[in-house]
Amino acid sequence: MKVPKRLQPLVDDGLIDEVVSQLMSGKEAQVYVVRCGAELRCAKVFKEASQRSFKQAVQYQEGRKGRNSRRARAMAKKTRYGQKEQETAWLTSEVDALYRLAAADVRAPRPHGFVDGVLLMDLISDGEDGVAPRLGEVTLSPQQARDYHDRVIADVVRMLCAGLVHGDLSEFNVLVDQDGPVIIDLPQAVDAAGNNSAPMLLVRDVDNMRAWFGRFEPALLNTDYGKEIWALYEAGELHPDSPLTGHFEPDTLDVDVMELMAVIDDAREEAEERRERARDDLEDDD
Ligand SMILES: Nc1ncnc2c1ncn2[C@@H]1O[C@H](COP(=O)(O)OP(=O)(O)O)[C@@H](O)[C@H]1O
Ligand SMILES: [Mg+2]
Repeated sequence: MKVPKRLQPLVDDGLIDEVVSQLMSGKEAQVYVVRCGAELRCAKVFKEASQRSFKQAVQYQEGRKGRNSRRARAMAKKTRYGQKEQETAWLTSEVDALYRLAAADVRAPRPHGFVDGVLLMDLISDGEDGVAPRLGEVTLSPQQARDYHDRVIADVVRMLCAGLVHGDLSEFNVLVDQDGPVIIDLPQAVDAAGNNSAPMLLVRDVDNMRAWFGRFEPALLNTDYGKEIWALYEAGELHPDSPLTGHFEPDTLDVDVMELMAVIDDAREEAEERRERARDDLEDDD
């Protein structure tokens, strides 16, 4: 096909030899199949900030790139410099996440660099000449649903052990190749330790998987892996091979302690932010 304008610089630099076809055009990006030497790869072209939708919401931004850095403070303020920093952080977050997932042995496309707002990564294929279908497009037997569910959950655990929560996990952002589920679409991935929404997002991600796989294997609908995983993580007891039961029964004492910790954390953060703001104002006066 004709080379799209945004891919031309990568063709000129010899990173892409041919643009084969366009996959879908989503909310945040356009996705192409490209040929690099003998390999087919996937090129994800991010839309300009003004054309993007909801995922850049504040909820996902928090905790990125260290809350104390000058950069984080610039991002928090709505200056032009701050907006540019925020845009760059947003764009590089998917490639950063993919490198971290590769290191953590999570099944996700291997990244091959990020150039001019274009992410190059493995093309997840169906094993023949097509592209792998999304999880939402395949019909599963009950056994297969249980197996795939457990594998996605194991990947979610490995991801959390690597410090990340996907934040938009659904049957649309999991592909199915010959070896099973592969997680994709990570620009909104959040820092598990530095983001107050992380527990909510983790539990939502896991519950989405439960709902989807539960259509084929209703016994899954009685599980509660999300809260179990977060409780282990918070207690510092989550490991890639932690045994999971699928059940979560908070005892009253734990809940009280957890609530108390949350209140303490919030208060501390507020105080920190106040100090940061005061320091920024001083700097601006200079
Ligand atoms: N590495 C990949 N291999 C094969 N198909 C992909 C790959 N990455 C994305 N796709 C396809 O492109 C679609 C959109 O990509 P995605 O990363 O989910 O972006 P978004 O949903 O934000 O537009 C996916 O649903 C999938 O069908
Ligand atoms: Mg998607």
